[in-house]
Amino acid sequence: MCGIVGYVGFRPASAVILDGLKRLEYRGYDSAGLAVKANGRLEVLKRAGKLSVLAEALASHALPGSLGVGHTRWATHGAPTDPNAHPHLTEKGDIAVIHNGIIENYLPLKEGLLARGHTFSSETDSEVLAHLIEEKYRGDLAEAVRLALSEAYGAYALVVAHRDHEEIVVARTVSPLVIGLGEGENFVASDVPALLPYTRRVIFLHDGDMAIVTREGVAVTDLAGNSVEREVVMVDWSLEAAEKGGYPHYMLKEIYEQPRVLENTLGGRLQEAGVTLGLGLEPTRYDKVHIVACGTAYYAAWVGKYLLEALARVPVEIEVASEYRYRDPVVDGKTLAICISQSGETIDTLEAIREAKRKGAGTLGVINAKGSSITREVDDTLYIHAGPEIGVASTKAYIAMLAAMAMLAVWMGRAKGTLEEKAVRELLAEMRRLPRLVEETLEQRPHIAHIAEKYHQAQDYLFLGRHIQAPTAYEGALKLKEISYIHAEAYPAGEMKHGPIALIDERLPVVVLATHSPFYEKTVSNIQEVRARGGRVIAVATEGDTEVGKFAQDVIYVPKVHPLLAPVVSVVPLQLLAYETAVCLGRDVDQPRNLAKSVTVE
Ligand code: G6P
Repeated sequence: MCGIVGYVGFRPASAVILDGLKRLEYRGYDSAGLAVKANGRLEVLKRAGKLSVLAEALASHALPGSLGVGHTRWATHGAPTDPNAHPHLTEKGDIAVIHNGIIENYLPLKEGLLARGHTFSSETDSEVLAHLIEEKYRGDLAEAVRLALSEAYGAYALVVAHRDHEEIVVARTVSPLVIGLGEGENFVASDVPALLPYTRRVIFLHDGDMAIVTREGVAVTDLAGNSVEREVVMVDWSLEAAEKGGYPHYMLKEIYEQPRVLENTLGGRLQEAGVTLGLGLEPTRYDKVHIVACGTAYYAAWVGKYLLEALARVPVEIEVASEYRYRDPVVDGKTLAICISQSGETIDTLEAIREAKRKGAGTLGVINAKGSSITREVDDTLYIHAGPEIGVASTKAYIAMLAAMAMLAVWMGRAKGTLEEKAVRELLAEMRRLPRLVEETLEQRPHIAHIAEKYHQAQDYLFLGRHIQAPTAYEGALKLKEISYIHAEAYPAGEMKHGPIALIDERLPVVVLATHSPFYEKTVSNIQEVRARGGRVIAVATEGDTEVGKFAQDVIYVPKVHPLLAPVVSVVPLQLLAYETAVCLGRDVDQPRNLAKSVTVE
């Protein structure tokens, strides 16, 4: 949700900023801009549209200078136009402000500023910060920022430059900011991938932190100006991991990375007859589990519910985080609240887990991004080790979340004594096979591309799955909507007859997850019901199945695996179906319209 890059050093700032913004474009891509300081002036360039539009403008309008700030936007207040793009400059051009988040009291602040003679050139909430800082400025930029922030409230990652200062002043509350440490140069960014070409040494700012970033160093304070110590963290993500590596899209690269990702998620954690997760929490203390998450992570939560209930015999409630946080959920000290998040920054998820914590729950984050906000607030974190995920549509993080939830369920089952050693050995053996099974499934891509081509003009799609494959159906529908813009609905297969069956006609492709499971026959009946009404069935079935092909027009075969692990393998063809359909339709796969990879506003 908006990408920020700031640089102060010896390199051309505009090149560092543009390069960093490219690596963050997944965070927002409706407009972009930058300001560079040279000869006591701040030169600004901003453009509506993708970053490439700004890059073109920069090619014919060089901005020399080695201190600058830049931004890619995902609009909240004000349409994606040139004036609404960041940075926002004061009328005199002395201060440039970049802001990610929402200033909730911007309207009264703006009224006051207007009454005091300020004129505004954008419709954004962010611009009030530029004017406020200008009013407070008496020669000390950090002090002016501090005073301005004492009047504003809401969420912000704020980056400020002044034409008379060789420094960048930053502050954060809610929205993420990370500082990259170099030699004779320092960096600011909203996420680690922007920093990877230059440094692995980073400081993750905490809520309520400010920092003054100069060529020589970084001074972190709280919002009152008191110095605070923040750990310097070495990030282990490689630069190659954050680049496309010859693939046409990040999403495809990330789909193909899934076997390796599973090895990383599971690696070193699976023992002979148990799982080692290095968690401090004590499973026997809890008699119920709540799982909160958003988007794709929510479907991982749903799979997690089936796993935990089946293997650890603990009641599990799942809920989208944006609902949970306002519902006054019934939570006590015997509740374990788990949140699942790739970014670890999704504000709804963060607030939901805070709510559970306030009510006394033990908290666990199942998270990809190291050092992210959620990891700092939960009692314990289970990292999924998926590496940087850049494609806006989540793929490899999802599969890693599923593997992490399977391990967690086995671990809790062992601790609670609900799982026999034999069952554990069997499950672990199946988990060890997952990387290879996903690898094999990827070989289906040409066949899936053919199916995508056949149905790419459909207006709607229906996805059906039972039991632990119901969330797979929902995730398949979500992937398709996100990147192809085809309307897709998902239902638990048994629910089809209670309404969605009315939608079925010869134009509707229906994707049915009919893999080997105790509910297989019932799902085959659902396929027959669709066929009887003229619907076109694309089935995902287990290799060796001879039934499904009799009723479905198209079948994608996946390797046989333990039914509780089937979602890990079965989601792969659905990811590929969405990908190939989007490519057929000429969609922007990595940056689908209106979406942002991590949503740090409500
Ligand atoms: C956004 C993204 C989704 C993602 C969701 C949760 O809506 O577009 O792809 O699943 O956020 O993100 P998280 O980082 O918390 O997993």
